[in-house]
Amino acid sequence: MHGRDNLHLLYPETFTQWESAVLPSEEFIRVEEGGDYGWPYCYYDQINEKKVLAPEYGGDGEIIGRCADMDDPVMGFPGHWAPNDLLFYTGDQFPDRYKNGAFIAFHGSTNRSPYQQSGYFVAFVPFVNGQVSGDWEVFANGFAGKELIINTNDAEFRPMGLAQGPDGSLYVSDSRVGKIWRILYKGDKATFGEAELAKMEAQKLVANIRNPHPVEDNLDKGQLPEGKKVYNTYCSPCHQRDGKGAKGRIPELSNTDWVTGDKSRLINIVLNGLEGEIEVNGELYDNIMPAHQFLTDEQISQVLTFIRKNFENNASAVAKEDVAKIRAKILN
Ligand code: HEC
Repeated sequence: MHGRDNLHLLYPETFTQWESAVLPSEEFIRVEEGGDYGWPYCYYDQINEKKVLAPEYGGDGEIIGRCADMDDPVMGFPGHWAPNDLLFYTGDQFPDRYKNGAFIAFHGSTNRSPYQQSGYFVAFVPFVNGQVSGDWEVFANGFAGKELIINTNDAEFRPMGLAQGPDGSLYVSDSRVGKIWRILYKGDKATFGEAELAKMEAQKLVANIRNPHPVEDNLDKGQLPEGKKVYNTYCSPCHQRDGKGAKGRIPELSNTDWVTGDKSRLINIVLNGLEGEIEVNGELYDNIMPAHQFLTDEQISQVLTFIRKNFENNASAVAKEDVAKIRAKILN
């Protein structure tokens, strides 16, 4: 199950940007008849290994409340990894330890800014007699073509779907260009063991898988211009730090008439949000951008000036008086 998003964006007093990047957990749930896994009242915190009350229902990251009665997942993965497929392996091609275990395709995060994105690999969870028998492992990494993924579009490929072939091969599909990998085992099953697994264990420390360091990995450490600060905090979780968006879901902000054209329309988008089908640079989007009326006139003028002068754009600044005028019209 995918965990929810935006703990810091919605509750900045309660959750830090780091907490919002790594929480809440992506939960591996065993669905039992009559089970209650807490949605939407609770979320699982994989660091403290407990279900806690969601902030919408009075939670602060610690309070458990009604979640004490909810069923825990069998395993909690770090936040935003986006498990998009699950496959229990029944083949005989791979070494015995893989039989009946679970492969999970993590499509990878979009909204871990100001930290690097995470996920983008295929994990394995060992099972014996229908029970989890060990910690999760990295099974296949490297799809993104790089370890430090700052913007979602930096990843060359993103693992999406899993299938098992009749000969026990594992197939992994990608969502960026539709590439499909076939994974075969050609080694000696009898000698497969600790040495091979140690190599995969080491992969847990690479940038797209390990937990980011709260200070060292903060991409915004140091001084930033105000407009960029507002952008990185409020817009980049969706539009990405390079303004290129995420294909098919979030439009880019480079060379678009929406950004460089009419200022009133642009201010309106930020204040009121935007919903329904739009075309941006020849691509259709039909999604929802939330309203940002909680930003001050000054913050909106700073962020709009920033996007109009960055991401290959070169348009005039937006004054805070322009924002105030449009806000007054909306309120009337
Ligand atoms: C929760 C995700 C999200 C956040 C946060 C967000 N946007 Fe958007 N934005 C979208 C989506 C989705 C659309 C397209 C909406 C549609 O399909 O109708 C969009 C459209 C736009 C557009 C018009 C289309 C384009 O690409 O030029 C602009 C301009 C824009 N957003 C600016 C911003 C700015 C500035 C911020 C920060 C203050 C921001 N957005 C925050 C998701 C988001």
